[in-house]
Amino acid sequence: AADPRLQGISDAIRVVPHFPKPGIMFNDITALLLRPGVFKDAVDMFVERYRGMGIAAVAGIEARGFIFGPAIALAIGAKFIPLRKPGKLPGEVISENYTLEYGTDCLEMHVGAVEPGDRVVVVDDLVATGGTLSAAIKLLERAAADVVECACLIGLPKFKGFPILLTWTQQPRLIGS
Ligand code: PRP
Repeated sequence: AADPRLQGISDAIRVVPHFPKPGIMFNDITALLLRPGVFKDAVDMFVERYRGMGIAAVAGIEARGFIFGPAIALAIGAKFIPLRKPGKLPGEVISENYTLEYGTDCLEMHVGAVEPGDRVVVVDDLVATGGTLSAAIKLLERAAADVVECACLIGLPKFKGFPILLTWTQQPRLIGS
């Protein structure tokens, strides 16, 4: 049976049609953040998944991976690594470019943030094409990290509004089902 918290999390995500452009259904997590109990349920589900797995780092993807990632990292006793959009990190970085539906984007990470062999979980709010997560995985693996899993709150289109877990070799999978 599905975890009963999933429905509350799903209900708290506001779907806004035609934002930021016509035809896009925007999944807005700010409504969920206004409800501390539901926000906690979402974080707890990931914490329950990753606690005790020897995770050294949670890598959060700018910008909304910065909302969920640090809460998960603190609860499991892992360091938090921000994966940022270009030009934001002051130190030496490695970069990974990736293709979007229109154009390209880039993620950057500080050299030395991750150590070879670190077991890492990648956190973001949402996966659509998987292009962003794939770039994050490549970036971390170039630094010799062991990427254990990617965790997102929302999967589009199939798992819209539900917490999911992803690995890059497997199909998206609901937590607790
Ligand atoms: C959204 C979302 C993911 C990404 C998923 O970020 O937060 O990071 O898109 O898309 P994909 O699976 O097709 O790669 P967005 O591009 O809106 O950037 P932002 O969080 O900086 O606004």
